[in-house]
Amino acid sequence: MSPVFVIVLAAGEGTRMRSTTPKVLHEVGGRTMLGHVLLAAASLQPARTLVVVGHGRDAVTASLPDTASAVIQAEQRGTGHAVRVALESAPDAVGTVLVLYGDMPLLRADTVRGLCEGHRGAATLLTARMPDPTGYGRIIRDDLGNVRAIVEEADADDTQRVIDEINVGVYAFDAGALRNALTRISTDNAQGEEYLTDVIALLVSDGEVVRASLAADHREMLGVNDRAQLAEAGAALNDRAIRALQRGGTTVTDPRTTWVDSTVVCAPDSVIEPFTILKGQTRVGSGAVVGPYSTLTDSTIGEAASVVAATCVGADVGPEASVGPYTYLRPGTRLGRGAKAGGFVEMKNADVGDGSKVPHLSYVGDATIGRRSNIGAATVFVNYDGENKHHTTVGDDVRVGSDTMLVAPVTIGDTAYTAAGSVITTDVPPGALGVGRARQRNIEGWVQRRRESTADGDTRGDDE
Ligand code: UD1
Ligand code: CA
Repeated sequence: MSPVFVIVLAAGEGTRMRSTTPKVLHEVGGRTMLGHVLLAAASLQPARTLVVVGHGRDAVTASLPDTASAVIQAEQRGTGHAVRVALESAPDAVGTVLVLYGDMPLLRADTVRGLCEGHRGAATLLTARMPDPTGYGRIIRDDLGNVRAIVEEADADDTQRVIDEINVGVYAFDAGALRNALTRISTDNAQGEEYLTDVIALLVSDGEVVRASLAADHREMLGVNDRAQLAEAGAALNDRAIRALQRGGTTVTDPRTTWVDSTVVCAPDSVIEPFTILKGQTRVGSGAVVGPYSTLTDSTIGEAASVVAATCVGADVGPEASVGPYTYLRPGTRLGRGAKAGGFVEMKNADVGDGSKVPHLSYVGDATIGRRSNIGAATVFVNYDGENKHHTTVGDDVRVGSDTMLVAPVTIGDTAYTAAGSVITTDVPPGALGVGRARQRNIEGWVQRRRESTADGDTRGDDE
């Protein structure tokens, strides 16, 4: 197959989304809709990829990968106009031109490749039989079954509207035939637009070869125009992502309550428990168990690690480490092998060495913790002085007593201890015990003196 020239239409506002975000930039399954389409097209290794931008053009252009470039359609005068603008900017486009719409996030690379490989003549378009064809252009065939035209919903009569074979919005054209036909399309239709779909009838009346390829799976051909269709696409992408994980050897205990972006990778023998959401560039290692009730975004979970009821964003959880429940790991958290971030622990920009544990109710921010150290319950790494963030360093084999405030910048040397309840404001040398708290004294007989009425400090019957 000779290299194809790809044009993706992405200039429309997407009025039915009712959004300030351009329609094609809405995210679904971990990518923008346009991102999914560009990925499918990239599998063809096209000679060039042009994306027609208009509404929100700066944002759409900024979202493009290096392999695609933007062409501006200043006014949205229809899909035919959009393709014309693209071709005018690319006099070098010859051979096969593949046109795609940017609102088809379910379109698969294999489908696009199949269409291009089978393409001969002036045009080959992809069609599908939709259970509900409402809103799509209908395929008009003659008695011999040859394609004659596409009629848009708004222009269709009653007999045309019952046709359930629709125009998907994926076409392979011969560049010369397309350029020629685009000079002849009119705006004489219900929407007053230049329809790309009118090219089909023009090519047919020119006596050119126009073929239609019926897609096997109509669900893949969903064009997203509103939020309901966006959710439908999201559910379909999720099903696909979960199937891919399952085929790769991941146990997904309850696919109905599991959401996985298309961008996520899990190793064989990982387990995803119910009510778990895996997003972005998340990676889960072999033997790891994630969930129930966990949300991981751009996080890496090492082999045989366990993550229960946690929210992790940009965190790197080492092999055999354990996280949760009710744990929040924020960007820059790294847990070493066998390390622990236990219940009600929050971490940010924290490096926790192999075998070190933060088991309960602590905040660890801007910190380096060595190996095999234990951070007692309710310890706070006091990293913020109201203006700046400061770093705390804890060495190897350290025991930080419960309820210690480590006021940064501060360093706790190897094997050192801190006494429970300490406020540590200066460095603790290796092997030392840091104590930073008032000494306890007991005041004998205090209760009886204060409370003559109650013998032996018996407070039963008090109403406070
Ligand atoms: C279009 C097709 C319809 C098909 C359906 C498939 C036409 C006239 N109609 O209808 O036959 O069944 O897709 O989903 O082509 N765009 C531009 N510039 C414009 C207008 C649109 O770039 O001036 C872009 C939009 O951003 C969008 C794509 O073209 O990504 C399709 O436009 P849209 O308005 O969604 O067309 P539909 O009404 O869905
Ligand atoms: Ca559409």
